[in-house]
Amino acid sequence: MPGSGDRGAAWARWLGTGLLGLCLLPVSLSLEVSVGKATTIYAVNGTEILLPCTFSSCFGFYDLHFWWTYNNSDTSRTILDGIVKNEKSDPKVKFKDDERITLEGSIKEKVNNISILLRNVDFSDTGKYTCFVKNPKENHAGHNATIFLQVVDKLEEVDNTVTLIILAVVGGVIGLLIFIMLVKKFIAFVLKKTQEKKKECLVSSSGNDNTENGLPGSKAEEKPPTKV
Ligand SMILES: *[C@@H]1O[C@H](CO)[C@@H](O)[C@H](O)[C@H]1NC(C)=O
Ligand SMILES: *[C@@H]1O[C@H](CO)[C@@H](O)[C@H](O)[C@H]1NC(C)=O
Ligand SMILES: *[C@@H]1O[C@H](CO)[C@@H](O)[C@H](O)[C@H]1NC(C)=O
Ligand SMILES: *[C@@H]1O[C@H](CO)[C@@H](O)[C@H](O)[C@H]1NC(C)=O
Repeated sequence: MPGSGDRGAAWARWLGTGLLGLCLLPVSLSLEVSVGKATTIYAVNGTEILLPCTFSSCFGFYDLHFWWTYNNSDTSRTILDGIVKNEKSDPKVKFKDDERITLEGSIKEKVNNISILLRNVDFSDTGKYTCFVKNPKENHAGHNATIFLQVVDKLEEVDNTVTLIILAVVGGVIGLLIFIMLVKKFIAFVLKKTQEKKKECLVSSSGNDNTENGLPGSKAEEKPPTKV
């Protein structure tokens, strides 16, 4: 396939950028903030939910400022604000606007965890939670990562949509390959049959059993009609 080479190159480039981005390349990537793989998390009203956030910095840090904001369609506010003195000290909360929130994170083994726990969640807690990190050592605006919290009255069955989609795609591809193989086989079969038919036709219509293989242009010799 002509496209697969391009795709391979794009993949390699993507991987390369990802790996370099971890540390070596642009300064703007030096501070990474992450809420993990899920972009939406679900919590049942009345329970507690951990809003994850971690960050990493290649250059190290001191007096790093971090904060969490809450956003929905009609409000936007900072719900927690704190500081991490250096790589060896745990994050300290300076301000929070809700007693139900606690900082659960810690700084250890290179995992800079500034996750927060929200207790007794209510439907009104549904919204966007963004964690910001700003390293004074780097002259940049806050890096941030957002997670969406959806409060529900009961958890639906585990959402397997992605798995199902992947399975469907894989199944579809395999099915397609089998189908193509079958079509190929069928065409080959039909061609063979047609050729056999032709052969039979040649043989039968020539009425001449001297043909060795019945193919056109074969060496079946026609005897000159008259011989003196
Ligand atoms: C969650 O909400 C439902 C529906 O409003 C309510 O019946 C239920 O008691 C609530 N659960 C808790 C733990 O608050
Ligand atoms: C939160 O809402 C404010 C005002 O609507 C907006 O300026 C800001 O970008 C929003 N923040 C996030 C993280 O969506
Ligand atoms: C961050 O800390 C919380 C609370 O201790 C923990 O549940 C969570 O797994 C940690 N996250 C990471 C990425 O280590
Ligand atoms: C959050 O980070 C993105 C880049 O990841 C940036 O474009 C955006 O402006 C940041 N938001 C704020 C409110 O700083």
